[in-house]
Amino acid sequence: MSNLILGIDAGNHMAKVAGEYGIDSYRTAICEWFERDVVEIHGADDMEFEIDGRKGFAGTIAVYEDEFGGGSMFGDSKAHEDTKIRVLLAIHRYIEKYSPGIENVSLVTGQPISSHKDAEKKKIIEMLKGTHELIVNKEWRRIHIHDVAVGAEGSGAYWATSGIRSARIIDVGSGTVNCATIADKRYINNASDTFNFGMETVNNKNDLASIARGIIRGTTKLKWDKNDIVLICGGISKDILPFIAKYYVSARLLEPLLKNRGDVIFADPVFANAIGFYNLARMTFK
Ligand SMILES: Nc1ncnc2c1ncn2[C@@H]1O[C@H](COP(=O)(O)OP(=O)(O)OP(=O)(O)O)[C@@H](O)[C@H]1O
Ligand SMILES: [Mg+2]
Repeated sequence: MSNLILGIDAGNHMAKVAGEYGIDSYRTAICEWFERDVVEIHGADDMEFEIDGRKGFAGTIAVYEDEFGGGSMFGDSKAHEDTKIRVLLAIHRYIEKYSPGIENVSLVTGQPISSHKDAEKKKIIEMLKGTHELIVNKEWRRIHIHDVAVGAEGSGAYWATSGIRSARIIDVGSGTVNCATIADKRYINNASDTFNFGMETVNNKNDLASIARGIIRGTTKLKWDKNDIVLICGGISKDILPFIAKYYVSARLLEPLLKNRGDVIFADPVFANAIGFYNLARMTFK
């Protein structure tokens, strides 16, 4: 039976998925299920789900419906129940879009650098591994997850680059900013960290100059040099790059390289972790 290999970056704002057929993403807002008087379509990614007994809505509909505004868990660990829902919905969407009928999956997913520890990783692996039953938009599906490995956000994106031996990576997310140092293809723990703020948790998300200053302040404490090669990824990369480049003069976008059934494409920097995780998954599980 064929096995689908995926890289899944289950972000607090968007889930990003990469695999041999290409990429997919959806808005990861989740809210509890309720009886709908008026059935209104909010977005193409709207999903009504029942997963391992939990019922709810996900996608753009949950952004509008959740009275607590989005309902995302912006913590610095992804070892919680919402991650399971996000990952399973991501798999469901990918199979529906690209490979109907597949039930067997092996995957690499991510965790912020600061909580990339054995106990947290074990929780994620135990939560995901095994057989899950889903009903999404009234369609039933079974998914067997055979293998799970947990990569680090930011540093995982290195595996989506090519021809680079050493670099600094800044992944600006919605709840966290992950900053990774890779020297001679090795991850350097002492020069990497997670900052506990992101685009959706700052006071003013339009003030990119201040957010960039916060990131620069944090990374100079890690002894990054202004002439280092700095690669930027995450959903806001293109907009924040000019502000980061004011200090890190050699900063540029991390445009992840995806080998897609013979073709090679450069994807948007928001897919950097997902594609890096996919490449790690291919190396680990084949
Ligand atoms: N297409 C877009 N255009 C403009 N801004 C975007 C776009 N997509 C995402 N963003 C912004 O970029 C931010 C980060 O998006 P990203 O998908 O990298 O976060 P995430 O990975 O879900 O979060 P985290 O890494 O904290 O779990 C979002 O909060 C949003 O404000
Ligand atoms: Mg992210």
